[in-house]
Amino acid sequence: MSKIGILTTGGDCSGLNSVIRAAYIRSKILGCELIGIRRGIQGLEHETLDSIKLNDTLCDYSLLGRSGSILLSNTKWMKASIDKGKSLDDIKKQIYEGYKELELNGLICVGGDGSIKLINELLVDNEDINVVVVPKTIDNDVNYTSSSIGFNTVVENVVHQIDCARSTAMSHERTMIVEVMGRGAGFIAMYAGTASGADVILIPEIKYNTENLISKVKSCMHQNGHCIVVVSESVESDDFTHLEKFVDGVLKYTHLEYKGISHHFKKLFKDHGIETRSVVLGHTQRGGDTTANDRIIGSMFGVEAVNLLCRGESGKLLCYNCGKINVENISEVCHSINRSLPADDPVLLTARDMWVYIGEV
Ligand code: F6P
Repeated sequence: MSKIGILTTGGDCSGLNSVIRAAYIRSKILGCELIGIRRGIQGLEHETLDSIKLNDTLCDYSLLGRSGSILLSNTKWMKASIDKGKSLDDIKKQIYEGYKELELNGLICVGGDGSIKLINELLVDNEDINVVVVPKTIDNDVNYTSSSIGFNTVVENVVHQIDCARSTAMSHERTMIVEVMGRGAGFIAMYAGTASGADVILIPEIKYNTENLISKVKSCMHQNGHCIVVVSESVESDDFTHLEKFVDGVLKYTHLEYKGISHHFKKLFKDHGIETRSVVLGHTQRGGDTTANDRIIGSMFGVEAVNLLCRGESGKLLCYNCGKINVENISEVCHSINRSLPADDPVLLTARDMWVYIGEV
């Protein structure tokens, strides 16, 4: 194994740079060259090939704490390619040609559920491509790994923001709604909400009842003088949906953009006479210093990805469970790669048993 490529794809998160640094150091030790591919899979497509040779200066210790990706990540490339009339086969061919042009012997793809599915498609037709995938996403919605890189840091960030929101909510005797990311999964809301002592945590996996929600908020205001409501961005209600997914029978959107559920709740609470403010944390959640935990998991993933490729293994997904790395075959797991927050999640059960209102469980 003499030349390995590494790319980061999909929404960025903390820990990506730790993976890159560790992969670089391990490659060097094993006598391999590590090539950084810029802007995710777009940079591997033959027409838009874009790579840099990684070196000691680019991959120094400062990468550990730095969020984002030094290799950049383009989330819209696939849609843009399809809009230009390319088929999935065209895209796969372009990726194959890019891999060959760069004379790679292996590829580390740091990505989420979408990339894992694409890599699986790619490997079906191209057995001479060697790929190992490292799971990353703040949403933590990749199955088979208890923690993807980026999740620990986002939870720390959100807890800090909720603590800030609480102090002002207390001074002004208000209800504060904090809207967090997570797409279709409630991990960020449930974990950060529980860690910051939220009174209400609403997630897409559990329906809530408006009457019970209002009653909980009113009782918190009465007992504590303030109330903290944490809500996942994708929560919907009977009279609030995020988008019309089909227009004239055609699926119009491939990438969801949410409409601001916190504003809906703010109006609802105000209509019930509850003094309320809301804050949408948005993309600030993805930045900030990378936690020690994400630095460690990122380093473990980076090293193990190189070790696997150098042992001649391919088509593998690295997972992190109970402090250890385990390896899954992408072909076996990619059909069940997405996950939501399970009903028996220990943090969810803890919140429920502490009488946090988490919907109608
Ligand atoms: O999937 C990660 C994520 O941060 C989601 O939590 C969020 O809904 C989405 O990406 C935002 O995407 P973008 O950066 O394209 O606005």
